[in-house]
Amino acid sequence: MNEIRINEMKNFVGKEIVINGWLYNKRSSGKIKFLQIRDGSGFVQGVVAKNDVSEDVFDLCEKLTQESSISVTGIVREDRRAPSGYELTVLDVKLVQMAFNDYPISLKEHGVDFLLDNRHLWIRTPRQHALLSIRHEVIKAIQEFLNNNGFIRVDSPIITPSTCEGTSDLFEIDYFGENAYLSQTGQLYQEAAAMAFGKVYSFGPTFRAEKSKTRRHLNEFWMVEPEMAYTDHYKNMEIQEQLVEYIVQSVLNNKSYELKELGRDISKLENIKAPFPKITYDEAIKILKENGYSIEWGNDLGSPNETFLSNKFEKPVFVMEYPAKCKAFYMQPREDRPEVVMCADLLAPEGYGEIIGGSQRIHDYDLLIKRIKEENLPEDIYDWYIDLRKYGSVPHSGFGLGIERTVAWITNIEHVRECIPFPRTLSRIRP
Ligand code: 4AD
Ligand code: MG
Repeated sequence: MNEIRINEMKNFVGKEIVINGWLYNKRSSGKIKFLQIRDGSGFVQGVVAKNDVSEDVFDLCEKLTQESSISVTGIVREDRRAPSGYELTVLDVKLVQMAFNDYPISLKEHGVDFLLDNRHLWIRTPRQHALLSIRHEVIKAIQEFLNNNGFIRVDSPIITPSTCEGTSDLFEIDYFGENAYLSQTGQLYQEAAAMAFGKVYSFGPTFRAEKSKTRRHLNEFWMVEPEMAYTDHYKNMEIQEQLVEYIVQSVLNNKSYELKELGRDISKLENIKAPFPKITYDEAIKILKENGYSIEWGNDLGSPNETFLSNKFEKPVFVMEYPAKCKAFYMQPREDRPEVVMCADLLAPEGYGEIIGGSQRIHDYDLLIKRIKEENLPEDIYDWYIDLRKYGSVPHSGFGLGIERTVAWITNIEHVRECIPFPRTLSRIRP
């Protein structure tokens, strides 16, 4: 038995093969039944002609319910009209399970809350399948780029004793009678790893107990965090633009079918090539003010501000050098202007806003101690992080790229909750 997957059909034209899959949909036209079969790698139409199959098989096809699991034997035919380019002339169908006939997700439109309640089933449908395949490609491309450029993957712990990005949005847990927190970022550990390996990255889940109910916020999301020794703020941005170009071009090269399924205008993506435009925070404030936003120097940019700015550029845009007071304690101040820090947020175009946050880190021992004191952070918890400034400290930089926001932009999906298999938001922890 020649068991293959739907995405391999191009290599089997005219051959008899078996597809192990599920019935997505079916329709009849006289003595012919059309089965829409999916197998996880794609979708294909199986054509069952009464004359080609036994009577039992034809009857079975009549009875098959949506999402029944079936092994289908057939001959692969080229068919230019088919979305996949191929069709299957069915010779036999073996039933694995007849699905209960009340499958919740019918082929009509459903509300998004209903679909999210049925996320465990919703991920079978073509759009969600395309989205999550592109998510996979994004992750694969990131790892390829970093691995090919000399980065070593060093994972950070998820259970941590301290905060990094701010104290307000932590998930607290009981760690054998001690307070601990789910990680908001692996950065501090990556800084340690960068001094051991030079160029490193972590990739993992990140937890933020933010009570934000926007299309950009999840309470659990995935982040890749590269960190580089002997690297300044400018070199840091160069790596980021190369990485983002590599991600987008990989999706264009390898996921064209999925982009089409999503109706994505790919001309907007073809244009995503380094270098990217760079503006300072000061310039951003000026642009916002000129366009009627009431924002003062010193305020962090809000979602509407980011949306406005990112709509102004065709490529992702770096907003650099924010006021120190609206960023984390570890960022390196500008030498000639210490009220701003050597950081940049990368805002994706088409209104998507921040997908990367990055900065050069403080490497000077005294300056780091001063900043920790100013922020009233517990020095004893940061003792090991301070050690890094005592023993072989060098200028170093890094960044964090949010996977779901990147996928949302590339696929042009409204809300990040569809860009992760099982979203965790303010109002949702199930399924
Ligand atoms: O800007 P953030 O908070 O940066 C850090 O955590 C740094 N320590 C990273 C580093 O330098 N190693 O988060 C980085 C990225 C954001 O740009 C965004 O893409 C994503 O993580 N992100 C979120 N994605 C979904 N939901 C949320 N609530 C997110 N918060 C941040
Ligand atoms: Mg940020």
